[in-house]
Amino acid sequence: MIYSRIAGTGRYLPERILTNADLEKMVDTSDEWIRSRTGIEQRHVAGENELTSDLCVNAAKVAIEEAGITVEDIDLIVVGTTSPDLIFPNIATIIQHKMGIPACAAFSIEAACTGFIYALSSADKFIRSGDTKCALVIGAEIITKLIDWDDRSTCVLFGDGAGAVVLQPSDEQGIISTHLGADGQYKDLLYYPVGVSSNLAAAGTGDSRIMMSGNEVFKVAVKTLSAVAQEALDANGLSLEDVDWLIPHQANLRIIQATAKRLDMPMEKIIQTVQIHGNTSAASVPMALDVGIRDGRIRRGQTLLLEAFGGGFTWGSVLLKY
Ligand code: ACO
Repeated sequence: MIYSRIAGTGRYLPERILTNADLEKMVDTSDEWIRSRTGIEQRHVAGENELTSDLCVNAAKVAIEEAGITVEDIDLIVVGTTSPDLIFPNIATIIQHKMGIPACAAFSIEAACTGFIYALSSADKFIRSGDTKCALVIGAEIITKLIDWDDRSTCVLFGDGAGAVVLQPSDEQGIISTHLGADGQYKDLLYYPVGVSSNLAAAGTGDSRIMMSGNEVFKVAVKTLSAVAQEALDANGLSLEDVDWLIPHQANLRIIQATAKRLDMPMEKIIQTVQIHGNTSAASVPMALDVGIRDGRIRRGQTLLLEAFGGGFTWGSVLLKY
């Protein structure tokens, strides 16, 4: 049996930090409101000329070094993002070119905040089938470029970043199972109203901003994140006591707390980065994973449960042995 196993991880955050105090000067908000409603204290914001692919390259370099491989070894690139450099070519090919990765399959997946979980699940299947020997999987976003900085209800929530993982085949257990889902009936609760075949003329105008029904998103997020975590456990006959670390999408500390309560999971077993990263959409789970690994909390042999939820709605979980 071939498993795919995480050989290395990396993350990259843009240099510029935007604190809640900075936001107080921009919109009618307060540090107290943002902290108490979201847990967020600061977020990183990409520079004007920084591209999502630049963030990806920086994160990928660390993951590649950590895995002890070279770019020559990579034969698949999958990127989850909703903020690619261009509509086409897809961002994975841009990363491939920038990093000098030899010709291989390279594609991106748009599943909003669940993008990395979808990407990891896809790469896992390529590896298990025997087609791929070394996959570079990235979740990345420069979502702040989609933000209306006058809209206090959304501008305080988001941040930029990239997280990368190198996946390789192994006889030892790695990714145990992945679980993906979506329900398009919720489209109007969270969306960006500008696309290619619809409303393209609104790009860059006041009508192009993230549309979100915060309260409704909150409720469905908590219900779905607990259900998809349970789905992964049930599929493997495990319980939460068997999981060393839960690594959820970092949208909002209150969503994480409410999910933990529903699952009866102690907060001490949950990697939390939302306080310092904000909601980085598809980048949030791989960056939180990398934070936990780098600071020594996540160790080889431990069981991890990754999960995310985002616009669509989309959702997914990955149960793995690190
Ligand atoms: N500063 C101060 N006041 C604000 C701000 C702000 N930044 N934003 C909104 N308010 C005001 C509102 O105008 C409202 O005022 P009113 O009562 O006078 O009308 C009041 O605060 C309460 O607004 P609510 O929207 O009810 O506040 P709530 O407690 O629901 O918190 C929040 C809003 C944080 C967005 C919450 O609904 C939430 O976390 N939802 C989840 C959505 C989310 O995380 N989305 C991220 C993308 S989706 C994802 O990643 C899963």
